[in-house]
Amino acid sequence: MTQYRTAPICWNQDYSVGVDILDRHHQTLASLINQLAERTEDNIKSEKMVDILTALVSYAEYHFRHEEDLMAAAGYVDLENHRLEHRHFCEIIAETCYGATLGIVGVKELFSYLTRWWRNHILLEDMKYKPYLANTPETEAA
Ligand SMILES: [Fe+2]
Ligand SMILES: [Fe+2]
Repeated sequence: MTQYRTAPICWNQDYSVGVDILDRHHQTLASLINQLAERTEDNIKSEKMVDILTALVSYAEYHFRHEEDLMAAAGYVDLENHRLEHRHFCEIIAETCYGATLGIVGVKELFSYLTRWWRNHILLEDMKYKPYLANTPETEAA
């Protein structure tokens, strides 16, 4: 069996998309994902685990809506593709979380997938809107 260990996400300025509210959303997503790092295989079906996954999915949906609204308001050109990326993530995560609660997907595998997704999505996709949202007014509290 392959042994691997993924480091928990540690937010730093390199991950900043230049809009405080979206950075705070990304930090909240990271802390929800990091909670999985502390879980072990034998408690993946526990209520606490289901609570973490449910919170993660609903917070991701909330964040995506907010991010897409700001991108639309800023006239971001590639919004439709970004929207598809978000939708794809929601589908994958719903399946993966379901697989995890059935014991098909291990908690370490799930944590590793989510960590990679979080880093790649922010650094490769979210960063593309950074110049467009540079003048976004801060209107919503976290
Ligand atoms: Fe995004
Ligand atoms: Fe985002």
